Amino acid sequence: MFEHWGALAGFAVVVPRDDGAADLDGPFVEPDLWRAGIGRKLVEEAAQFAKVLEARELVASANSRSAPFYAKCGFKPAGQLETSHGPITVMSRPLS
Ligand SMILES: CC(C)(COP(=O)(O)OP(=O)(O)OC[C@H]1O[C@@H](n2cnc3c(N)ncnc32)[C@H](O)[C@@H]1OP(=O)(O)O)[C@@H](O)C(=O)NCCC(=O)NCCS
Repeated sequence: MFEHWGALAGFAVVVPRDDGAADLDGPFVEPDLWRAGIGRKLVEEAAQFAKVLEARELVASANSRSAPFYAKCGFKPAGQLETSHGPITVMSRPLS
């Protein structure tokens, strides 16, 4: 969670997986606060948390709008999925 002047500004969720990776759900940032570095802070916090859980990589599901953000945060494309909401790029960031 990230707060801005005492109000919730964004959040991200880390979900450990059985295969040794961890899924990153979100991050979500309040639209009024986009492009101010909060999303990156949430990713870095999530990566630290996933390391504490001994995950070897952080995995995110990106659409065409969020993929450039994940790329800026160190994620690389690792596969494609077709969903009812359109194509999703699975993106991965090692945690070594
Ligand atoms: C994607 C999201 C989390 C980004 O949060 P943010 O706080 O605006 O991101 P930051 O300001 O930390 O940006 C980090 C970098 O990514 C870039 N970036 C952010 N959003 C971007 C976008 N839509 N397209 C291209 N680059 C983007 C920033 O310019 C910044 O680059 P820089 O380091 O070169 O300056 C936010 O737009 C959001 O909540 N979107 C809706 C939910 C969503 O799509 N979540 C992700 C997947 S479900």
